[in-house]
Amino acid sequence: MDKERKLIIAGNWKSNKTVAEGLSLVNDLKRELAAVKEVDIVVAPPFTALESVSKAIIDSNIRLGAQNLSADGYGAFTGEIPAGMLKEFSVGYVILGHSERRQFQKESDALVAKKAAAAHAANLVPIVCVGETLAEREAGITEQIVEGQLGGSLAGLSAEQVERTVLAYEPVWAIGTGKTATSAQAQEVHAFIRKVLTTLHGEVVAKRVRIQYGGSVKANNARELLGQPDIDGALVGGASLEVRSFADIIKNSI
Ligand code: 13P
Repeated sequence: MDKERKLIIAGNWKSNKTVAEGLSLVNDLKRELAAVKEVDIVVAPPFTALESVSKAIIDSNIRLGAQNLSADGYGAFTGEIPAGMLKEFSVGYVILGHSERRQFQKESDALVAKKAAAAHAANLVPIVCVGETLAEREAGITEQIVEGQLGGSLAGLSAEQVERTVLAYEPVWAIGTGKTATSAQAQEVHAFIRKVLTTLHGEVVAKRVRIQYGGSVKANNARELLGQPDIDGALVGGASLEVRSFADIIKNSI
């Protein structure tokens, strides 16, 4: 697939995989995907598996992501993991503002923006998630919601930082439901996101930002989705937990 921007496909393991299970998965992925150069491949295990997975993927084409970080630095922040600790395990990416955290941990756009700034300060690439709920889509306010989340979650970042940020459009109604947005629905929102980025930071930056689609991405729909002009990759949940399905998503997108 000849794309303007290099594809980035990330597996968000969420709260799944023991250390042993995670190691087994990445060792299989390493074998399956050793020849892939066309796609940036990222796995985002839970914090507890970062160290072992990090060691297992040294010298491979698989990069490491975390699923959250502290908005604050070192210090008295019980239970929080600052960016500096992630760097100890060669983490390169961090998923921020996932709808599950927005919903269950009540994360606000302002908190996501603070975390994104902390990520950039540590040279980590944030993967900032946005997306509407089913009720919001049915009310016809998808664009309003996505625009608000983008403005709020990227607030305070410089144009250079936004350019290095990866965005993920994940319609909440498509996550873990088996209901994928059609490629046309996804492309429409991705194009809209790029339009908002153009307004915020100009055309050059907007053209360089990679925007992943997430929500029930599987091996059999990846090619169609990632073939859309403004879809630059995928953030994969369920299908990233098995070597066959995750490897096939990547291979089918090339
Ligand atoms: P599923 O692929 O399981 O729908 O999850 C998508 C997601 O939330 C990735 O962050």
